Amino acid sequence: MKGIILAGGKGTRLYPITKGISKHLLPLYNKPMIYYPLSILMLSKIKEILIISNYEYIKNYKRIFKDGSQLGLKIKYAVQEEAKGIAEAFILGEQFIENKNVCLVLGDNIIYGHGLIDLLNNAKKNVKKNNSVIFGYNVNNPQEYGIVEFDKNGKVISIEEKPKNPKSNYAVVGLYFYPNDVIKKAYNVKPSARGELEITSINEMYLKENRLKVELLGRGYAWFDTGTHDSLLDASNFIRTIEKRTGLKVACIEEIAYNNKWIDRNQLQKLAKKFEKTEYGKYLMEIAGD
Ligand code: G1P
Repeated sequence: MKGIILAGGKGTRLYPITKGISKHLLPLYNKPMIYYPLSILMLSKIKEILIISNYEYIKNYKRIFKDGSQLGLKIKYAVQEEAKGIAEAFILGEQFIENKNVCLVLGDNIIYGHGLIDLLNNAKKNVKKNNSVIFGYNVNNPQEYGIVEFDKNGKVISIEEKPKNPKSNYAVVGLYFYPNDVIKKAYNVKPSARGELEITSINEMYLKENRLKVELLGRGYAWFDTGTHDSLLDASNFIRTIEKRTGLKVACIEEIAYNNKWIDRNQLQKLAKKFEKTEYGKYLMEIAGD
């Protein structure tokens, strides 16, 4: 399975902080925001990853991640010229995806919770059975998201993008697992009223074919989308609180690469040395047994 991180858009909702920097490189407590979605792909054991961003920012991502080999990854890059919608990721990524299944994660989504790895594993299994898998999370502002409606037996009845009158409080999280035919579907999406190729249209297609699974992220999960100044700070504070209390780091990509056995102790030590002076570097040194 291949992975895509969509880190495009102008981040206008976060102006003026995003006037000179890609939103997904903003600090989320102690690391760039994109570390969080990247860690989700890595926890899903996905090694081949495409980062999609605006032309002007691609070089910044390349400076951070290069070809990914230092983390045991293969990272490629693609440009999204204009914000034409999330579903365009599969068109831009067509050659990269080849004939594989694909997981898409939005560059501003942060998911934290016990059992996440099992959930990701199950999603991958379901995709092998030719289903798509998305995740629902209870929110208090459903007008701002894709919203799933369930019947009494928990069966999905509808999905609507940013409904004025939401039929439930279950928002669709920015993490999507699809079989390879998502590429074909992306080409058939018609632009919405806001002029975008909506990911919700793709999900509706799978729903019509009875091939859409919605896994709920229950109360034990935290999901943030960092779209506003307040949600950005909330997410940072949340990560800080968890990390301070447990002494463990969230979305520490070097640690995940090491735990996945994609890099060895020497490689981890080498990475840690680069930020020796920070708490982050010291944490990596400890893991590497120094
Ligand atoms: C997008 C999707 C929406 C989803 C949300 C999750 O919204 O269109 O369905 O619930 O991401 O972050 P947007 O970021 O385009 O407002």
